[in-house]
Parts: sequence; C-alpha cells; structure tokens
Amino acid sequence: MNAITALAGRPAPVKSPSHGVDAALLAKYDGLRVPRYTSYPTAPHFTPDVNGDVYGGWLAAIEPSRSGSLYLHIPFCQKMCWYCGCHTKIVARYEPIAEYLGHLRREVGMVADRIPGRLAVRHIHFGGGTPTMMAPADFESLIGLLRERFDIAANAELAVEIDPRTLTAEMAAALGRAGVNRASLGVQDFDAVVQEAINRVQPRAVTEQALEWLHGAGIDSINLDLMYGLPHQSVESVTRSAEIALEMAPDRLSVFGYAHVPWMKTHQKKIDESVLADSLGRWEQFAAIADTLAAAGYSAIGLDHFARPGDELAVQQEEGRLGRNFQGYTTDDAEVLLGFGSSSIGALPQGYVQNAVPFDHYAAAIEEGRLPTAKGIALTEDDKVRRDLIMRLMCDLSVDTAAIARAHGLDEGAFDPELAGMADLVADGVAVVEGRRVHVPEAARPLMRIVAARFDTHLSKGAGRHSRAV
Ligand SMILES: C[S@@+](CC[C@H](N)C(=O)[O-])C[C@H]1O[C@@H](n2cnc3c(N)ncnc32)[C@H](O)[C@@H]1O
Ligand code: SF4
Repeated sequence: MNAITALAGRPAPVKSPSHGVDAALLAKYDGLRVPRYTSYPTAPHFTPDVNGDVYGGWLAAIEPSRSGSLYLHIPFCQKMCWYCGCHTKIVARYEPIAEYLGHLRREVGMVADRIPGRLAVRHIHFGGGTPTMMAPADFESLIGLLRERFDIAANAELAVEIDPRTLTAEMAAALGRAGVNRASLGVQDFDAVVQEAINRVQPRAVTEQALEWLHGAGIDSINLDLMYGLPHQSVESVTRSAEIALEMAPDRLSVFGYAHVPWMKTHQKKIDESVLADSLGRWEQFAAIADTLAAAGYSAIGLDHFARPGDELAVQQEEGRLGRNFQGYTTDDAEVLLGFGSSSIGALPQGYVQNAVPFDHYAAAIEEGRLPTAKGIALTEDDKVRRDLIMRLMCDLSVDTAAIARAHGLDEGAFDPELAGMADLVADGVAVVEGRRVHVPEAARPLMRIVAARFDTHLSKGAGRHSRAV
C-alpha cells in the first residue's frame, strides 16, 4: 500500500488535489530540488559552445514552412518586489529603457535578416520585468517593426505581462491599438500584510482599474498571477485572495509557488524566512487555492495553471495538445520560438539559445553586429525523445513511453530501465506504472516534476541548484 492510499481513509484537512499527503512524504520529496521543465535539457545545462555563430546557422536553416512565435523580454520595473525571481532591473529614468529598445530593435533586424523568407508568426509574448514600462509610442512602434519583419497572422495571439500598479490608461489604449489581445496581470496576493512584506502594495482597486482600462481597450483575455508560499500567507489568506481574483472573472490563473533562491536573487534576503510556510504549509496553500478555483469551475492545467472550461488552454489539455515553454503552459505549438532581449531564451528544432543576461554584454554584441547569444544547447537524438516524454508528462500527467519511443524510431522498451527505477515513487503513490505508461495521480499533481526528473539524464551531471519541489 502506498503512502497516499494508506492515508486516504483519514479525514483530509482540505478536499483538494493534495488531500491525504502526509508531512513525511512531503519532506522526503521537497528535499529534492528539481527543475520546472520549461525546457529539456534545462537552462543550467546550456553552455557557451552555442554562440551567436551557431545560432546564426540555425536561423539560416529555418525552412519556410515552419511556424514561429516571438518572445520579447523587457527587463525593467519601477520597484523591486522582494520575492522576484525574474531577470529585471529597477529604473527611475526612461533613458535606459529607450537605449535598450534601440538594441532590441536592432536585434529584431539581425535575426530577421538571417531567416530565409518571412517567418509566419502566430504568437507574440512580451514578458519581463514589466513590458508596460515602455512608452506607449515605443510599444506601438516596436509592434510595427515586428509586423514589417515577420508575417504575423491576422488572428495571432499578442500577449503582454502587466504590472497593474504601473499601467496607465494611455498604455492600455496603445496596447489595444497595437492589436494586443491577451494580458497577464501580476497580483500575487490581495492581503495587505503580505503585500507589505513583499514590497508590493497593490490595493484591489488598482487591479480593478487596470482591468477596466484593458477591457475598455478591447483586451478581454485575462490571466492573473497568484502566488503561495510568500511571507505571512496562510490557507485562509490565499483562499481569500483566490476568491477576490475570481470576482474579477479571469479566463486563466497562474498559481506559482514562491521560489526562494536568495543565493541567486540577493534581494530575496529581505524576505523574513521565519514567516514562510514549510513544505506542508505550502502544499496546503496550493491545495486551498486549487479547491477554490475548482469550485468555481476552473480546470487545473499542468503544474500551476487554471483555466475556465472552454478556454483554449483547457480544450488543448483535454485533447492532449497542451504545450509548455518558458512562459509556462501554452497553446503555442510553433516549431521555432525566437527570443529577443537580454536573458531571453529561444527554442529551435536544432536546440535552445539564451541571450546574454548583463545589459552591457547584450548591448556590446549588438553594437559589434554579433547576435547576443551567450549560451545554449544543441539537442541530441536522445535529448529530443526525452524532451517529448518529459513535456507530455508535465502537460498530461501521463505518458506512454512506448509510443514516444516508437515515434522516435526506438525500441518500445527503450525506457524500461527508467520505469523499473520508479519503484520508490510507485510505492509512495507519486507515480503509477501500467505496462509502459506512467501516470502522476491527481493527488500527486504538485510532485510531477519529480517523476519527470527520472527521465532527465542531464540532472545527474549536477549543474544548477533548483528551487524546492513543492
Ligand atoms: C514578470 S512577472 C509579471 C509581470 C509584472 N512584472 C508583475 O509582477 O506584475 C511574472 C510573474 O512571475 C511570478 N514570480 C516572480 N518571482 C517569482 C518567484 N520567486 N517564485 C515564483 N513566482 C515568481 C509572479 O507571479 C509574477 O507575476
Ligand atoms: S514581480 Fe514583476 S513587478 Fe515585481 S520586480 Fe519582478 S518583474 Fe518586477
């Protein structure tokens, strides 16, 4: 009998995807630090062997029939949130942003020049940082440049991440004029004590005002970001935040567990660790949010997303077509993802590329006429099959290893050693193996990364230090 079913008869503290999981099991698996698998191999395994010249060759080899999507990184914010794990910089003046946009525009030109023909684009995502720190005219002009250099579909999804605290009515109107049709707003938590502790005071009225402006500009597809595991959060406080978020009727919600990595993000040292929940507390907070959203009819998508029934994300999950990339779960199935801006990551059929993170390195490369790629990884055939397997598991909570092996021309039993090696996970109820199919039971949904990690041959090579598993 496994640990989850062994506990199933006990009264569960919360009726949720997590009920019945005990503290010992959580402590056991939370001790494992595993990647979030927004790519495979993951970013800590990228190396400088993949430089701008290699990337240039990959771009030149893009076949005209390929579909593409674009990611543009805008690494500026007005004020640092103490929990922030993003690549961003605090600026008080507009000059650094204007200068960065100059480089970004040149990078768009350099990349487009190397691609044969005009790449057909169906998704554009502006992330950050806070893309809406751009002046409205600069944003519109940048979209104009993208439309000039790429073949952007009339029904393309154009998504922008927004900090409601700094959005203006003018910017919302400019987003609408530029064709933006999806907005993702950072909220995290509505509780004033939590907001104070994370240096992000954002009264509910500020989020509501931003939504009103966006709706007024014709932008009706809305995602809200919530977080758990932040200082002072409790089951009660996160439930209340989820309820308030629901009153705003978003199409989707992202629910991120606070990744506390103060050795990488030194401003996180301002977070008082004594008021952070432990693994069980985090698990219960996630479960409470998941329950609240489920009760309102939202479907759980993968690890950390929720969507209204009928939303494209929910439909694609049901049909087994959900995708996962650096922005999380996505309906984007493009074969070529081009990343622009410092730290941005691109995914091409040949492999992954990441731009230089320090602004001066990024800017210097562009001024010298070089692509600003700092590192990446060329995919081996083994990486490709494992990537497919891990992505299906992260999206569907289930994967037929025989079918994936077959699709890659391998023997159906190619992953039998991994399946046999999962006996401990099976005993604990974290995985179920049936023939050559592996499932993550609903009760173990937040632990799916641990099952995925069993197919990761790079992990044992030791690069990187990841955030907690729960
Ligand atoms: C680029 S921000 C969103 C846009 C805007 N900058 C804002 O914060 O409103 C992306 C999201 O990542 C999440 N996030 C940031 N730091 C995180 C961390 N350390 N752990 C988990 N999630 C984090 C937050 O939910 C945040 O809204
Ligand atoms: S969470 Fe968003 S607004 Fe806060 S510092 Fe990070 S990127 Fe900027």
